[in-house]
Amino acid sequence: MKAFKVVPVLLLLIYTAASITRWPTHTICKNNNLEVKYRSCDPLQDLALGVDSCSYVPGIVINIRIATILRYTINELSVDISLILNGQTIPIYAKQLCEQNHPEFQFCGKKKGEYIYYEGPVSLNMEGIPQGEFNISAQLFNENRNTVVCADFFIRNR
Ligand SMILES: *[C@@H]1O[C@H](CO)[C@@H](O)[C@H](O)[C@H]1NC(C)=O
Repeated sequence: MKAFKVVPVLLLLIYTAASITRWPTHTICKNNNLEVKYRSCDPLQDLALGVDSCSYVPGIVINIRIATILRYTINELSVDISLILNGQTIPIYAKQLCEQNHPEFQFCGKKKGEYIYYEGPVSLNMEGIPQGEFNISAQLFNENRNTVVCADFFIRNR
């Protein structure tokens, strides 16, 4: 996979005219079997996201990279992941990533306006990626339920 170009992408993201109603769709991963694309669903900001490898092996952690500028301080941070099926949102995963006095990650406690770059492992407790085409929505929000990161994923697995 090509080297991940966070900085140029990020600059592009931030200085793109704010009048855009929809962010462009970015491809994270594409091989013969698996295609993963995403689009930011945060109205004000695009998102830079990448993975090390496109081949998913059950039980193995994947390394992800995520870069964004915070629009809100994150003393607490939670993630909600949902499957979008026939227009319905089905929650599949929820976790608190940052707690007020117990920062688990280096980005916990970062302030509004700060740049976040996270590179690290994410373990998916999945037997495998389901076959077919499906959409997943991921949202990270802070203690006041302000959206910190929002992304819609389009996945095709053959
Ligand atoms: C996924 O979302 C895209 C864009 O909203 C839509 O065109 C597509 O039909 C969706 N796919 C599924 C399987 O729901």
